[in-house]
Amino acid sequence: MTELIAQLKAAVGAAHVLTEGDLSAYEQDWRKRRRGKALAVVRPGSTAEVAAVVRLCAAAGAPIVPQGGNTSMVVGSVPDASGREVVLNLTRMNRIRAIDAGNLTMTVDAGCVLQNLQQAAEDAGFLFPLSLAAEGSCTIGGNLGTNAGGTQVVRYGNTRELCLGLEVVTAQGEVWEGLSGLRKDNTGYDLRDLFIGSEGTLGIITAATMKLYPLPAAQLTAWAAVPSLEHAVKLLGLAHKYLGAGLTGFEVMGQFALSLVVKHMPQLRVPFQADSPYCALLEVSDTESEPHARAQFERLLEAALEDGCATDAVVAENIAQARALWHVRENIPLAQAQEGLNIKHDISIPVSRIPDFCAETDALLAREIAGVRLVNFGHLGDGNLHYNVQAPEGGDPVAFLREQEAKVNGLVYDQVKKFGGSISAEHGIGALKVDSLPKYKSPVALDMMRALKRALDPQNLLNPGRVVAL
Ligand code: FAD
Ligand code: MLT
Ligand code: ZN
Repeated sequence: MTELIAQLKAAVGAAHVLTEGDLSAYEQDWRKRRRGKALAVVRPGSTAEVAAVVRLCAAAGAPIVPQGGNTSMVVGSVPDASGREVVLNLTRMNRIRAIDAGNLTMTVDAGCVLQNLQQAAEDAGFLFPLSLAAEGSCTIGGNLGTNAGGTQVVRYGNTRELCLGLEVVTAQGEVWEGLSGLRKDNTGYDLRDLFIGSEGTLGIITAATMKLYPLPAAQLTAWAAVPSLEHAVKLLGLAHKYLGAGLTGFEVMGQFALSLVVKHMPQLRVPFQADSPYCALLEVSDTESEPHARAQFERLLEAALEDGCATDAVVAENIAQARALWHVRENIPLAQAQEGLNIKHDISIPVSRIPDFCAETDALLAREIAGVRLVNFGHLGDGNLHYNVQAPEGGDPVAFLREQEAKVNGLVYDQVKKFGGSISAEHGIGALKVDSLPKYKSPVALDMMRALKRALDPQNLLNPGRVVAL
């Protein structure tokens, strides 16, 4: 493989082919649960260089792991331990290529960090409405690779709904120029949607044309105390009724999840945490004005308090207060990590069935594991729960994971199947869930997925063993 490394250096420049030193930023996943070993980390600076790298790896039979910000939660973006895989990191390709105000689109390199896209859109007077806690380091290529969700899906959909066109390097090292900004193009199979969510297993996204939206005249945030998940679902129904398309965020957070933020981030103020079993975080975006938005929120919250589905509520007075409330929500995963190793689930259930799913599954877990602690929070607006399981207080988290993780995953996923849900709502499958998927996905669907993989990547070069096992 030394010849391949020399060829890669000739293709992208020796400075952009890393083979020694501390490569943990590229080889270890964000959760610090998996560490692989790359043959090399290659950082191309252009689409042509990506294509050249793919052709060289294909000729040498070296598998490729496409990588953006490496914030994957499912071990999708790090190499395995074989030392044979080339990590192809896109972050040098971070240009905003064009903003077309009249077409309400922005064309960007795949390695653009999400936060920079949001800023570029805002600087141009528009909104790019994809928002997730990893936005400071995840890239739009990774967001498309995983079809990322985040906190505004209830109004704008996943990354898939925000994309109009792609530029992709295929497993053969050819470039598909699909960067159309067209909202309608019915000329055959939807290849764009095939690559979105394929987690680097079908092609390497090198650029994308994304939708832009008008900046709202006002955005307000409210934090409500809700007595149960049933009440939270009822509050969501009222929010849809009173706010309509203006509802751009609806998160739910369990009392224990919030207690971890209180414990590990004492500088953050967490309203109602001590007294309320659940809290909800709502965001309204208004095209008219802040007074109009505030009046809408007040009507909704009055109705909710009268109904009893909320027992208390605060509306942020200004942007700083709103950001502080979102900061609490976004810090739950970090607070969990500080509490110790935990078993994560990223599941989706029909919203109406979430209360029963949680009541039944909580009871099953409590029966199975004495003292088990449930960190339940997530994007209730689109039925996506992060239903995480923490080791019992004072327990050994390493032993807990070793002894319980497979059993807990099986119990939770069986419950998800029973309630008509999905075992992966937004994070994808990666290497982490590839063995679980066949138990919960239609065999007909899996056969079609394998047929597509064999057709587009017959050498099994791109992220082999992730998403679907051949
Ligand atoms: P990476 O992690 O580098 O890669 C992710 C996958 O995409 C891999 O399979 C990789 O091979 C593939 N890939 C990367 N770049 C390309 C490319 N150019 N072409 C083709 N395939 C590619 N996710 C959510 O959906 N919603 C959330 O709310 C959310 N919150 C998070 C909070 C935290 C604190 C963290 C750490 C992660 C969170 N995530 C969330 C998970 C993660 O941020 C997303 O999956 C994100 O889309 C990954 O982007 P990335 O650039 O880091 O991609
Ligand atoms: C989030 O919504 O915060 C993440 O998707 C969940 C996580 O990081 O565990
Ligand atoms: Zn999430």
